[in-house]
Amino acid sequence: MIAPTVVPVELAGRAYDILIGPGLIEAAGAELKARFPGARYCVITDETVAETHLERLAASLTDADLAFSSIVVTPGEGSKTFETLESVVDGVLSARMERGDLLIALGGGVIGDLVGFASGIVRRGMRFVQVPTTLLSQVDSSVGGKTGINTRHGKNLVGLFHQPALVLADTATLDTLTPRHMRAGYAEVVKYGLIDDAAFFAWLEANSAEIFAGGPARIGAIATSCRAKAQVVRIDETEQGPRALLNLGHTFGHAFETACDYDAERLVHGEAVAIGMVLAHEFSARLNLASPDDAARVKAHLSAVGLPTSIGEIPGGVGSADELMRAIFQDKKVKRGRLTFILTRGIGEAFIADDVVPEQVRDFLEEKLAG
Ligand code: GLY
Repeated sequence: MIAPTVVPVELAGRAYDILIGPGLIEAAGAELKARFPGARYCVITDETVAETHLERLAASLTDADLAFSSIVVTPGEGSKTFETLESVVDGVLSARMERGDLLIALGGGVIGDLVGFASGIVRRGMRFVQVPTTLLSQVDSSVGGKTGINTRHGKNLVGLFHQPALVLADTATLDTLTPRHMRAGYAEVVKYGLIDDAAFFAWLEANSAEIFAGGPARIGAIATSCRAKAQVVRIDETEQGPRALLNLGHTFGHAFETACDYDAERLVHGEAVAIGMVLAHEFSARLNLASPDDAARVKAHLSAVGLPTSIGEIPGGVGSADELMRAIFQDKKVKRGRLTFILTRGIGEAFIADDVVPEQVRDFLEEKLAG
């Protein structure tokens, strides 16, 4: 196996490493045995990921003489519910996992969020390992300790901050992703360039073909993204300030996902974020904060890799501007009734605006909905 790239997440008392590279599932048993002597494991995954990756992970744990059990849930956002959480917690307790044992989240963002939440509450907190198998989860959701489930009021409204003890991002798993899911994860990679790294954005413009093809640029893009995220998490673990920058494009994006009832046939998270990031740049240009040329450049790059960049591309529509505003106000980015948005002064110059006038957002959305 090629030696993995290691990105440390420096958090006092809860520091951990992100290992990035191909073959980490096969190497997981030896890695875990060295890092957590004497622990037992419960692998939690979904039916789709189980088919592709569970056997190899199980073989690796067995080869390292590690004791483990497994729980397989239904794939999809529909599993981020109290019901599935209860079944996972019940399975973990039935397997007699002790506090010093570890859960392993094998899968994408849904599994990571669900298992992270379960590990945070079982026995008042167990450790867990993220083994993210999608690009989106490798560059975003597996890092930083946000965990949770959805409710009828919105996405991720119940959960906690609970950091993993290790992240094993096996980049070979990305070869099994559909092009659509690869593109969706790529939107979150682009986000790091747009937030504060214009040079990274320019590098992505030049290297996206290689990233999609799976060459060395892919590992580089994932490592740069993880370093950027690790840095933000180090200074603001619980999103009291700058971590909110990671929500660039997410306020609009979550409203579109809500409007689509989280129906992944119509819209997946990364696609919603891609459209949201374009809108955040266009809205910033509308407020004369940024040049419209930057919004056009962002749109051109996302569109060049095949991502949707406008509301009109969401199949089935997203309702009215008022309905979208209701979803925006239910999001976690509202403080005492005021909207917090991530706006920008240009590519790589995102900032937190906590006094956005709701009527301006509404008017902007109405115009965008009209095409
Ligand atoms: N996905 C945004 C964050 O982790 O803060």
